[in-house]
Amino acid sequence: MGANNLTVLGSTGSIGVSTLDVIRSHPQRFQVFALGANLQVDRMFEQCIEFTPQYAVLRDHAAANTLKQRLNDAGSSTEVLAGDEGLIDIAGATDSHTVMAAIVGSAGLDATLSAVRAGKRVLLANKESLVMSGKLFTDAVNVSGAELLPIDSEHNAIFQCLPHDFSSLSSAGIRRILLTGSGGPFRETPLEELASKTPDQACSHPNWSMGRKISVDSATMMNKGLEFIEACWLFKAQPKDIEVVIHPQSIVHSMVEYLDGSVLAQMGMPDMRTPIANCLGWPERIETKVPSLDFYQLGRLDFSAPDYQRFPALRLSMHAMESALDYPVALNAANEIAVDAFLSETICFTQIAEIIEETLNNWQSSEPDSLEAVKDSDLRARQYAAQRVNKRKLQ
Ligand SMILES: NC(=O)c1ccc[n+]([C@@H]2O[C@H](COP(=O)([O-])OP(=O)(O)OC[C@H]3O[C@@H](n4cnc5c(N)ncnc54)[C@H](OP(=O)(O)O)[C@@H]3O)[C@@H](O)[C@H]2O)c1
Repeated sequence: MGANNLTVLGSTGSIGVSTLDVIRSHPQRFQVFALGANLQVDRMFEQCIEFTPQYAVLRDHAAANTLKQRLNDAGSSTEVLAGDEGLIDIAGATDSHTVMAAIVGSAGLDATLSAVRAGKRVLLANKESLVMSGKLFTDAVNVSGAELLPIDSEHNAIFQCLPHDFSSLSSAGIRRILLTGSGGPFRETPLEELASKTPDQACSHPNWSMGRKISVDSATMMNKGLEFIEACWLFKAQPKDIEVVIHPQSIVHSMVEYLDGSVLAQMGMPDMRTPIANCLGWPERIETKVPSLDFYQLGRLDFSAPDYQRFPALRLSMHAMESALDYPVALNAANEIAVDAFLSETICFTQIAEIIEETLNNWQSSEPDSLEAVKDSDLRARQYAAQRVNKRKLQ
């Protein structure tokens, strides 16, 4: 097994493309073992021709057949697999050492867990899998000895501000974690205008270029809420240990405050190639094409408290984590249904948080003590949230 043999799950998405861009700059260091995605044939075909992986997987069977035909015609030796099983197989394959987990949403859960159970170095972008199955996930990491490196810029920043032998906040002398967030495109929009915001406006993030689902999550600040939950699991923190700070410039990616009053911050341009390179090269530093920060041009950095009236999804996420059990599963599922409905213009922007709140208020909670239980809660919450969407559609 080559130490730098990589599998990229979600290779056709925003994180996947940035990952391959970093890999492109280090052809001697990294070898792509497998690529996986959903149904984008053209982009997957181009990636297979350029990176010559042993395997390429598309979840959609028809798309996988088309890819197979096109790769055959092009004389490629890449073997094409299909379906969720194909993704699970490449994630756990013995021939790769590192797995980039960058499938979006709950769809990434099975393949990410497969990589964890196989004891890989897992570069975790798919925050939803940890939100849904936090305890199962971290237990699986402990059993298999998998190495979990956080890709989310905030968690990667926290990771960089922690001692290398970090085991707990108290033993490392940490007072609190400061999780920064830009506030997204609607940070200063008059509240009465939020309901009329379109999917394209919600996806126009001022600082980051990302996939559509996470862009909407950034506009509602659900993204920060999911990150809050993710940070609790990754750094063995309680909700009270983490404070969210609005920082519109997205230059400070998060901070750690120590008992002596020292605050360590990680800064850099808002470009996902930095945290990706940090994890790909870890513990070494590797070069990226990310430009240097120009402090003279920056001039100032601003910080403020979050406005929970503007961002109810953030408050709901914190409550879901405090309530524990399978509340985070219900939160995530309701959010995915509501964001899909917003992107297809079935509901308006402010109804995303309403649907999540109604789902949580009516939630019959249970202990998510197995993957089946997690999936059952996920399905129940989706069904409930879909009913709430339909109710609004009919109005
Ligand atoms: N973008 C960022 O800057 C950023 C930052 C931090 C964390 N993250 C996290 O990283 C993950 C990916 O985000 P993204 O912005 O890269 O998303 P994205 O651009 O929408 O890409 C999603 C990827 O997942 C694949 N996919 C979607 N549904 C799938 C399914 N059912 N089965 C298998 N593959 C599926 C897509 O394949 P097709 O293209 O074939 O549909 C695509 O490769 C998310 O969990 C997000 O929260 C992203």
